[in-house]
Amino acid sequence: MDIKNIGSFNPPVRTLMGPGPSDVHPRVTSAMARPTIGHLDPSFVGMMDEVKVMLQYAFQTENELTIPVSAPGSAGMETCFVNLVEPGDKVVICQNGVFGGRMQENVTRAGGTAVMVKDEWGTAIDPAKLEQALSEHPDARLVAFVQAETSTGVQSDTKTLCEIAHKHGCLTIVDAVTSLGGSPLKVDEWGIDAIYSGTQKCLSCTPGLSPVSFNEAAQEKIRNRKTPVQSWFLDLNLVMGYWGEGVKRAYHHTAPVNPLYALHESLVMLKEEGLTNSWARHQANHQLLKKGLEAMGLSFLVDEKDRLPQLNAVVIPDGVDEAEVRSRLLNEYNLEIGAGLGALAGKVWRIGLMGYSSNPKNVMFCIGALEKILTDMKAPINQGAAMAAIA
Ligand SMILES: Cc1ncc(COP(=O)(O)O)c(C=O)c1O
Repeated sequence: MDIKNIGSFNPPVRTLMGPGPSDVHPRVTSAMARPTIGHLDPSFVGMMDEVKVMLQYAFQTENELTIPVSAPGSAGMETCFVNLVEPGDKVVICQNGVFGGRMQENVTRAGGTAVMVKDEWGTAIDPAKLEQALSEHPDARLVAFVQAETSTGVQSDTKTLCEIAHKHGCLTIVDAVTSLGGSPLKVDEWGIDAIYSGTQKCLSCTPGLSPVSFNEAAQEKIRNRKTPVQSWFLDLNLVMGYWGEGVKRAYHHTAPVNPLYALHESLVMLKEEGLTNSWARHQANHQLLKKGLEAMGLSFLVDEKDRLPQLNAVVIPDGVDEAEVRSRLLNEYNLEIGAGLGALAGKVWRIGLMGYSSNPKNVMFCIGALEKILTDMKAPINQGAAMAAIA
């Protein structure tokens, strides 16, 4: 590439209906374009306090330690593991998709031992298997799992899994990257001890920040560590010096000022809509998509009771070149949907209805474009039925 030919980057305008990022609300992008100020400016510090309060609302928690980590969801995951796992700790991980596997990596790299409890991809985590694993490993200290598996479109019964973990004296780490703002999540009521999420899915915000929350029990475990947290950047004891209460903030790192304006605006919008209304909107748009897809003759990977409304794993019809469908959607309609990941590559499409992308107009657009392309490709679908079903 010749550097002389490089100019400003102007991205194409797409409709994002994949596994994330989702479309960002214009209010959020325009908030992001506001003037950058110092990250210790009193006005910025006041905004940080508002972000914390609104994140507490989004997570449904009163946890003091509720902040956005200055990096994407993977950093939120790592914040939970490096702070809560000490060398020698045994952690039970329930895995039913890609992201449970990443938890295992995190535990091992933090010097812990991971006990894997596996469920088939596309099914919810089986609480009975967790119960059995904890009976077989009474020395386990933590239980970790993904509430909303983006790789499969499955949601697991977080309240029940937390109850089982606590009965066996374990703290819980929950991945809520895809659930926050999009489907029911109640940190305090369900007894979640540590949780992390991302901004690029159901919050209608840009990628790059990771809201986390830790309750008193989790903080106590961190305070009583025998060894220092191996990551300087993610050590919560240090991060809290910056995000703590009041105006006396110590410099830790330069906060991503403009992305935090974006998060602030997206949380204001969530508050205006109302959390339960947002959950209901995601559910209603999922139902509309389901109606159209089923009329077309397509089916879902996941049992109805375990389906995530915001991430729809759709079984690819026999004989269809799934990559060609996705590339035609992108090239002809500027519409992005996701491919299957890992064990589900080539078997499903992942259609996201997250945040600002979750609206009836997008559902009609996606169903119409998919129907046209599959008809052109002579795929085995009920031609002409889908749009009629959802009109
Ligand atoms: C369930 C889940 N966990 C973790 C992550 C990692 O987040 P990020 O890509 O923002 O680092 C993702 C991203 O899609 C996810 O879906």
